[in-house]
Formats: sequence, structure tokens, C-alpha cells
Amino acid sequence: MEQPRSDAFIFFGATGDLATKQTWPALQALVKAGRLAMPIVAIGRKDIGTEAIRAKAKKSLEDTKNFDEAAFAKLSEMLSYVAVDYDDPKTFDGIKKAVGSAKRPLSYVALPPDLFEKVAENLAKAGLAEGGRLVLEKPFGHDAASAKALSEALYKSFPEEAIYRIDHYLGKEQVENIVYFRAANPLFETTWNRDNIESVEITMAETFGVKGRAEFYDKVGAVRDVVQNHLLATVACIAMDLPGERGYSALREARTKLLAQVKKLTTDDLVRGQVKGYRDEKGVADDSTTETFAAARFLVDSPRWQGVPFFIRAGKSLAVTATDAIVRWKGVGHVVLEDAKAPGQNTLRFRLGPDNAIALAANVKTPGEPMVGNASELILRASAAGALKPYERLFGDAIEGDATMYARRDAVEESWRIVDDALKAKTPVYAYDEGSWGPAEAARVAPVCGWANPQK
Ligand code: BG6
Repeated sequence: MEQPRSDAFIFFGATGDLATKQTWPALQALVKAGRLAMPIVAIGRKDIGTEAIRAKAKKSLEDTKNFDEAAFAKLSEMLSYVAVDYDDPKTFDGIKKAVGSAKRPLSYVALPPDLFEKVAENLAKAGLAEGGRLVLEKPFGHDAASAKALSEALYKSFPEEAIYRIDHYLGKEQVENIVYFRAANPLFETTWNRDNIESVEITMAETFGVKGRAEFYDKVGAVRDVVQNHLLATVACIAMDLPGERGYSALREARTKLLAQVKKLTTDDLVRGQVKGYRDEKGVADDSTTETFAAARFLVDSPRWQGVPFFIRAGKSLAVTATDAIVRWKGVGHVVLEDAKAPGQNTLRFRLGPDNAIALAANVKTPGEPMVGNASELILRASAAGALKPYERLFGDAIEGDATMYARRDAVEESWRIVDDALKAKTPVYAYDEGSWGPAEAARVAPVCGWANPQK
């Protein structure tokens, strides 16, 4: 059913790091595409004024090499700034004034999560909740109980249908492509099960550390920062049963159903690591045991995936920045091969970032008499032209009232359920060198063939 479009964009956290990297570029792109012609109200605590926020937005766009003069001029015209005190509901009246006659404002909240409830409440008091939408940045809670309590608290101001929980991986073209690829290629989909698949492996590697975000990160760690959300959402896209009908609620339902089938992570199946020097970062506790690296083995309790391990690894300060999801088929080479080592295995590798590719590994004979060969990859690389960046996609969808690419309440709570106990058990953290592939102990939870390190 067609949903009414939002008619104002209220942006909390407009001076933060995420705003520079993601939000301003996305808003400018939407303006350029003619999809964002409405008041845009940036909010902050300091009374810096509209000219200052325009200058900040411009600088962000220039720094990230996204500046587009014509589009920015339009954006600038629609943009205003309002200072609020989160503890004083009356200050939210200034926002109401700034959105003018808008009746369905979308509020995007990129603030520390402990402010979510207060912001929602104050929006409601200022008359900005009715007919409006509330888009919330991650993390949504820090465990299943807090996520549940947060949803309940938000319902006092916004109904569930109006709440959009961001997991920007769900907005990635590359992640959506996993679902498309499965649905459009029966050759693979018909073998996408425990009879044929040996394992699934996802590595999200980043060369950079916690960069200026240490204070936030030290309370969170790798599992809460990217595994509980981005990587389990990716697992859901890989492993869910494709829904029997089109439409967003069916896809969300399928992803959630899969997450509900993932078994709780055990402490034996989790290895945490911390990069050497992390404790010297400003904002990190001297005795911090927060992990900057995690490797884990998950199992899905469903007839389709019984016994198939899902390996996940994520870390900061690793050797490369790249995310690969690999589906590995069972099998060894046929007896006619002379090459005893011939693996006979096929894999499908989805490159989820920073570039976009799908690679099928197959074994090909080396020219000459012997029946020997090598694994090679057939690489499908879609042109990036026309691809929407995740935040552009997500904001555009929320403005239209489409929540397909957002995480549903129960999916978020299921994801927390999966990792909660293992995280609370405070397993050891093993030190690793910057620029490595994490601590040697990660081998304990690796696939039989060892971890596959993404190449640049
Ligand atoms: C964010 C995490 O959600 O995702 C960051 O908080 C991480 O720590 C980032 O670096 C990675 O996103 P992407 O799209 O660059 O893979």
C-alpha cells in the first residue's frame, strides 16, 4: 500500500562524525535527485545558527569529495538550524516552527542512544510525532532487554510502524544483491542447503582503528558494533528462506524468522581480540577489555542449515579494508583427477565493500597432459554507476514510508539474544598486531580450510 511521503526532515546529530561521512552526502544526493524538496532542520545543543550549519555541511561535502555546487545551493536554501536543550521540551517548539506547515515530519536521530527516548518524547510534546516518522541510528540497545525496553518506551510517542531502526548494511546495494542473486539464479538456490553447502564465512576487515570514536567504541566493542547488527543481518540475507511473495513485509519476516533460528553463541565459539596500543587511545580505559576484533562460529537450527557452520570475523586495524561473504560448497575432486590436492570445492564470494563483486571459484585444468588444475574465479562486477549509497537509499525509503531495508523490532531483539550470553561471559581478549589478521587464537573458530583473508 502506498504510504504518505514525509514533508520535513529533522536531523539530530548534525554536527557529528557520521553526518560528515554519510548524512550530508546522502541528503545532497537526494536533493539532486529531486527526492528531498522540504524543510531540512538540523538540530544541535549549541546555538551556532543556520549559516554555521550550512558551512559545516559544505565542508563535510568538500572533505568527502561529494560537493556539488548546484545541488548544495538547493540543499542550503532548505536548511535551517535550531538549538535545543534535550532536557527542556519547550525548546522543541523551535523545531515545530522551523518545519512550518509540514504535517508528516521525519526525525532522524544520530545521537547517543540514551537520548532516543527523551527526543521522541519531546518531539511528541511539540506535536512532531503525529503523522511523523522516527529514524534511529544504531546501536539499538546494548542487549535484548534494553532493546525491548527502548521499543516499549518509544511507543509512548511513536507507533511501531513509524519507527525505522537503521542497519546501513541492509541499505547496501551489495547486500540486497545477495537476495537478488539467490532469487534470480536457480542454479545456486536449488543447492543452497545443508546437503550441498559446507560452510558460510563472512569477514569484515578494516585497516583503520577507532579514530576519534574511542569513547563510543570502548563501551561497545566489535560484536555490538558490527556483528550483532550488520553481519547477522547479512547472515539473514544469505540463509533465510526466500519469501513466497513480493513486498517488504515478507522480506522482513523472512529475515527475522531466520534470526530466530540462529542458536545462541557459546563462549567456546567466540574469540575476542584487542589490537595492541588500543588502550593508549584517548577515551579508552587503561584496563579496557573491549574487543576490537571478534571471530565466531554460529549455527542455524533449521532443517535447511542443520550442521552448517556460519563463521564471522570482524576487526579494526587489520591488514586490509574489505568485506567478503563466502558460501562454500561441499565436495572433493573426482577420482579421475591426478592432482591429489585438487580441492573440488566451489565457492561463491560476495564482495560487500568497499567495492562490489560476485566471484564464483571453479577449478580449471592447467594446459598440458596431466589432469591437474587450479582454482580460478569468474568475477561478475556490476558497474557502480547509478548505485545508491546506503544512507541515500535508506533516507529515500523512509521518506516514502518503505521500511524493507530497516531492522524490525523482533529482528533486533533476536540478534541480541544470539550474542547476549557470550558477551556477558566476558571471555578473554587476545592481543594482536596492527596490520595483522587478528589474534592467532581466532584459528580455534575457523573453517576447516582456515580463514579466507579478503584481498584488496
Ligand atoms: C558502522 C560501525 O556501523 O559501520 C563502524 O560503527 C564501521 O565501526 C562501519 O566502520 C562500517 O561500515 P561500511 O559501510 O564502511 O562497511
